[in-house]
Amino acid sequence: MARSVTSIDDLSNDEIEAIFRLADRYLVEMGTPGKPFRVQGRSSLAGGLILATLFLEPSTRTRLSFESAMLRLGGECISVADAESTSAAKGETIADTVRVVENYADAIVIRHPYEGAARVAADYADVPVINAGDGAHEHPTQTLCDLYTLRESKKQEGKPVGMEVLRDLNVVLWGDLQHGRTVHSLVYALARFGARIIPLAAPGHAFPEHVGRRLARDYNCLPLSTKDIDALPANALPADVVYVTPDEPHQQALFANAWFALSEKQQAEIRAMRGIDAVYSTRLQRERLEPGEETSDYPTVDARFLKDRRYRDAQVMHPLPRVDELSYDLDRDRRGVYFKQAAYGVPVRMALLAALLELAPDMLRQAPREKEVARYGQATGISCYNARCVTQQLSEQRYLTPRFSIIEAHPLTLRCVYCDHEQTPQVVSRNSTRKYTLGTDDWQRVPLEDLVLFANEDEARRAEHQRKKTPRRDSTASHVVSSE
Ligand code: NCD
Repeated sequence: MARSVTSIDDLSNDEIEAIFRLADRYLVEMGTPGKPFRVQGRSSLAGGLILATLFLEPSTRTRLSFESAMLRLGGECISVADAESTSAAKGETIADTVRVVENYADAIVIRHPYEGAARVAADYADVPVINAGDGAHEHPTQTLCDLYTLRESKKQEGKPVGMEVLRDLNVVLWGDLQHGRTVHSLVYALARFGARIIPLAAPGHAFPEHVGRRLARDYNCLPLSTKDIDALPANALPADVVYVTPDEPHQQALFANAWFALSEKQQAEIRAMRGIDAVYSTRLQRERLEPGEETSDYPTVDARFLKDRRYRDAQVMHPLPRVDELSYDLDRDRRGVYFKQAAYGVPVRMALLAALLELAPDMLRQAPREKEVARYGQATGISCYNARCVTQQLSEQRYLTPRFSIIEAHPLTLRCVYCDHEQTPQVVSRNSTRKYTLGTDDWQRVPLEDLVLFANEDEARRAEHQRKKTPRRDSTASHVVSSE
C-alpha cells in the first residue's frame, strides 16, 4: 500500500525533518529574489505525474498551494473544488470516489467534512492520499507549514537549523481549540518535538477531551489546571491549562496532575518559562458549531494584547483565513508571520509530494508504529459515539464497520482509528455464543476474532446477545449452581 498522510503521526520526526530539508533546497534553488519564502519557476521532477485535489469543503490556500506545488514540480493537476460538483452530491461514498479517482491520478489530496474521511480514502486507494482537513479532526499539512514557519523563525543569519529549535519553545494556542483541526494536528507535533503548549481557548472552546487524553497518553504531556499553578509567581502564564511536554523522567508525574506532585526540578522548569515564542491564533469555526455554541466574547490578538513584555519576541501565526480574531494592525508588525506561513505552503507541499511520489529517494522510511495493544473491529457491538465520525454517516455505513485501537488493556480503552475519540466499553460478549458478561476485566480470554464489545448492557440486549449464566459455588453445598 502506498504511504499516505492522514494524521501528523503518519510522519516520524525524522521524516518531517527530511521534508523540511528538501523544502529548504527548493527555496534555495527556486526562490524568488528578495522573497526568501516564495518559490518561483518550475522543475521537471514530477513530469508526467498527475495530482488530484478533491475538496469537498471550501479552501483557498490549501488547494491552491498543493496545485502550485505540483505544477512547480513539473506535474499536473485535476481538481474538484466543491462538493456540489461531484458525485458525492448524488450520494457516492468516499470509498467509491477514491477507487475511481486513483485511476486518474498518481496521488490524491482530499478535504472532507467527515472526521476520519481521509483515513477511509487512504484505506481504499492504491495511491498516496493526503489529508487536507477532515472535519474538526486533523490538518497535518497545515501543521507542516506551521512547524516550518517556527523553525524558520529560529534561523540566525540565514543559517539552516534543525527541529531541535522547537524544544522548550513556549507556544500559545489561541481561539477555537475545540473545532480547529489545525490546532489538533499542531499540538501533537509540538508535543513530539518537545515544545511547551499553552492553550488559551475562547470561552467554551477548549480542546476536546480526546485531544487532551492523547496528549497525555501518547506524548507524555502533563496537564496542569489553573488551580495547580496557583503556586506560580505572579508573572506566570495566564493559561487555563498548561501542557508541559516532558522528557521521559516526567512520565512518573503524568497522571499526578497537581503542582505539589511535581518534583522540584519540574516545578523549577515551569517557573523558568521565559517569554512566549509564538502565538497561534485561529478563527471561530462557525460552520462546525452546534446551536448555542456561538460565543460573543471571542478573543482578538492585536497590538495592545502583544504589548505585554512576554510577547516581545512572539511570532504571531494564523492558518488563515482570519475574520475578527487577528487585527489588521499586526500586518506591518515584525512579529506577524502569517502570510509567510501561507507562502511556505508551496515549498513544504512540494517536498511532501516529492517524498510521497518517491521522486526524492530515501525520505520516508518506516511509518511510526501505532501505539496500541491490539486492533478491534466488529460489525455488531460498540460503535464510535462521535456523531461527526465517518463511521456514523449513513452513506459510509454501507461498507464501513467501526474500527478501534485498543490503547489500554485495563481499563479496556478503545480509540476510534478514524476520529480518535476514546471510550471504555462495559460489556464483553462472543460472536460465536452471543452470551455476554458485565465488566471487561477478562476480555483477553476471548480470541479477538470472536470478541464483541458493547458500550453497555442495553446495547448488548438490543443486539440480541444474552447475559451469560455464570457458574458459582454454593457456600453451603458442594455442587455447582447456576445464577443469572
Ligand atoms: C484552515 C482549515 O481549513 O482548517 N485553513 C487552512 O487550511 N489554512 C483554518 C480555518 O479554516 O480556519
